[in-house]
Amino acid sequence: MSRSFLIASGKGGVGKSSVAASLGQALAKRGLSVALMDADTGLRCMDLMLGIQDKVVFDFADVMEKRCLLQDALYPVPGYGSLFLLSASQILRAAEIRPKDVQKVTQSLNRTFDIVIVDCPAGVGRNLKVNLGSVEEYILVTTPDDIAMRDAERTCQVMGEHEICHPHLILNRTDKHMIKRGEMLSPQQAAMVLDAPLLGAVPDSDKVYRGLLRHKTAYECGDKQVRLAFERIADRLMGEDLPVKEEKQGPVERFFLRARM
Ligand SMILES: Nc1ncnc2c1ncn2[C@@H]1O[C@H](COP(=O)(O)OP(=O)(O)OP(=O)(O)O)[C@@H](O)[C@H]1O
Ligand SMILES: [Mg+2]
Repeated sequence: MSRSFLIASGKGGVGKSSVAASLGQALAKRGLSVALMDADTGLRCMDLMLGIQDKVVFDFADVMEKRCLLQDALYPVPGYGSLFLLSASQILRAAEIRPKDVQKVTQSLNRTFDIVIVDCPAGVGRNLKVNLGSVEEYILVTTPDDIAMRDAERTCQVMGEHEICHPHLILNRTDKHMIKRGEMLSPQQAAMVLDAPLLGAVPDSDKVYRGLLRHKTAYECGDKQVRLAFERIADRLMGEDLPVKEEKQGPVERFFLRARM
């Protein structure tokens, strides 16, 4: 049975698109057919992230306005078997996207692909809500700082109001030394605060941005720990019971972090 996931965060720039593209690649490497849908209307990035910007001619707006068929707007990502991208429109404004069109497209994708991943824009307003029509699960991406955590909490509320009640949490840009010293929330602590099951944690790495400069995703950036994090996230999403490693904190660090929560 096909599954579709919305990637959301509330706060911008926490790594939603990096997670969406990398997770898509990790799942495709497992032999699954995966459709990535860039839903960041007006500010699309997935084509550049995946290095296929020169191939993209048709996008979501062309499908919506019936200028092409859906399959004409799906572009394969080389090296990943059955991984395809549907780009967001760069020209339309988000207000011009109709929820029923998004729903129609995601439903068609669901009939063809094992996995559909919808990369949402930041925020919890209309830009997010227009995409909520046809998913039951969402992946909440956050970084371990209070600002992103507060926005993630608000995102959970909005999802709940729309009866999308199956969150999976990914904590991005973690630093095991800072966690050990009690300067940063651990993935387990973040999951407790947000009351969301932990899907995984992705370490902070300079190589992710350096990879982006070469149109490589986080998964391909050359950092083994980052890649491993996405392999484990993909395995857990497919139902494997792999614990997320817990960094040990002393009692003093635990006390100060608890006081913040
Ligand atoms: N694990 C990581 N380590 C270091 N840098 C990262 C990591 N994940 C993402 N980044 C960097 O963070 C920046 C923002 O990432 P990305 O575009 O994926 O975020 P986003 O949440 O999709 O942003 P937006 O809200 O604008 O759509 C990029 O420069 C990316 O390279
Ligand atoms: Mg993005």
